Amino acid sequence: MSQGTLTVLGIESSCDETAAAVLVGGVVRSNVIAGQEVHRAWGGVVPELASRAHQEHIVPVVDEALRQAGIVKESIDVVAFTQGPGLIGALLVGTCFARSLAQALGKPLVAVDHLKAHVLAHFIQDTETRPAPIFPFINLTVSGGHTQLILVRGPLDMEVLGTTLDDAAGEAFDKGAKILGLPYPGGPLVDQHARSGDGKRFKLPVPAVQGLDMSFSGIKTAFANLVRKNVAEDADFVERELSHLCASLQQQIVDILLRKLQKAGRTHGVPRIGISGGVSANSALREQATALAQREQWELYLPPFAYCTDNAAMIAMAGHFLHLAGVHASLETMPVARW
Ligand code: KG4
Ligand code: ZN
Repeated sequence: MSQGTLTVLGIESSCDETAAAVLVGGVVRSNVIAGQEVHRAWGGVVPELASRAHQEHIVPVVDEALRQAGIVKESIDVVAFTQGPGLIGALLVGTCFARSLAQALGKPLVAVDHLKAHVLAHFIQDTETRPAPIFPFINLTVSGGHTQLILVRGPLDMEVLGTTLDDAAGEAFDKGAKILGLPYPGGPLVDQHARSGDGKRFKLPVPAVQGLDMSFSGIKTAFANLVRKNVAEDADFVERELSHLCASLQQQIVDILLRKLQKAGRTHGVPRIGISGGVSANSALREQATALAQREQWELYLPPFAYCTDNAAMIAMAGHFLHLAGVHASLETMPVARW
């Protein structure tokens, strides 16, 4: 089969989303995601509940992805799955399913690094054609578990330039939201409330971190102290100031991310930047990154919302590139929680 008809099934189960997608020649034919409401009441993802929900969802989600793509399983050329990083029990469900399917079909299996897949999300094509990124570019990968600046020289050639030293940017959003009593995952809710707030109302500390590394735990602590101190004097503080608290927290996180992204682009002399991962869905980050790219005269790559947060289309996209490079996995491949 040619590159243009290469049919890849992607399976994602690293955290709390069970997802399957079919890409034909790098173009999305289906992209199905089953979320897990069970975690809401616990204020975060409960690993054991996630594994159980993946077990329930995986067969119907893959069936639905094949149905929406209008193909039978025998048409799949490559089975790609998330090997890690993530919750080990959750990853195991996707890994076992992908291994069995590849074996039953007699088709190659490809093991995907979830973080590299977030970067390769920029290459996914669907009904709306977007120009594919030009190499090299610098990518800011911002998710619930990771925050990295990466020099991307090719689809399989990536170098980490900087990373968070403590919490991930998404974690800072989620922990800040929890302090405000908002349900998990709090990032999208902070984004929503911040739209009517003033980001300069509350001052949060600027972490002093060298080079291209970042830190978000100081903001979370300062934010918790700010809320605690004010609530002690005024019980309605959070309710009254909610939009300003969300906007101030969001602005500080966005400031840190964009300052480091700007530094990375200038230091490495690369006039192309990308942002991906769940936090790249954030409206302030998208707007301010667009303004930054305009000021610096850089090209900016932002995936459509469907490919920002966890999805299987990006796993299939990574599988597409890995298969073309001849990088296949054995049928005994095990998941890896952390690299
Ligand atoms: O990439 P992702 O779906 O999963 C991981 O690989 O972690 O990222 C999830 C993270 C969560 O922390 C969530 O709160 C955050 O992305 N997120 C957002 C927004 N949408 C998702 N954070 C801020 N603003 C958003 N609009
Ligand atoms: Zn992710």
